[in-house]
Amino acid sequence: MKIVVIQGPNLNMLGIREQNIYGPMKLEDIHQQMKTFAEQNRIDIEFFQSNLEGEIVDRIQECLGDADGIIINPAAYTHTSIAIRDAISAVQVPTMEVHLSNIHQREEFRHKSLTAPVCTGQIIGMGPFGYHLAMVGMTQILNEIQSIKQQQQAQMAQQKA
Ligand code: DQA
Repeated sequence: MKIVVIQGPNLNMLGIREQNIYGPMKLEDIHQQMKTFAEQNRIDIEFFQSNLEGEIVDRIQECLGDADGIIINPAAYTHTSIAIRDAISAVQVPTMEVHLSNIHQREEFRHKSLTAPVCTGQIIGMGPFGYHLAMVGMTQILNEIQSIKQQQQAQMAQQKA
């Protein structure tokens, strides 16, 4: 089972940027915690951060046939990027959207997520813990998908016999 974690613009500045909103934790520390959870649950995990929309689209496209799940914080592109939304929609890989802050409590332009409607779920306002919740949620979803596939295979094998 493989999960790809995609982080959008300015998230490389966590720990420095607007600590009153995003807290003091650095992105690499968040990733370290996710890596520990992944190892404990025998999940392969890869991390990607970019400040460029096209690079994020490329990384989502690379998930097709390679990743079982995506955890994404598209950051500011959440509110603007039809391209990222279309990429998520195109690859049909279960995707969990995460925001550290509660985007609904903030400026009006942050209230709308263009990407959320094509995601499996959205976790907001939980700070760095939201990424852990996303890992737990995604693991649950992927386990369910796996067991449905196994049931289908067993049924097909029975029909053939
Ligand atoms: C964010 C919320 C976005 O509105 C903002 O542009 C970010 C971070 C969050 O995690 O709370 O860069 O995605």
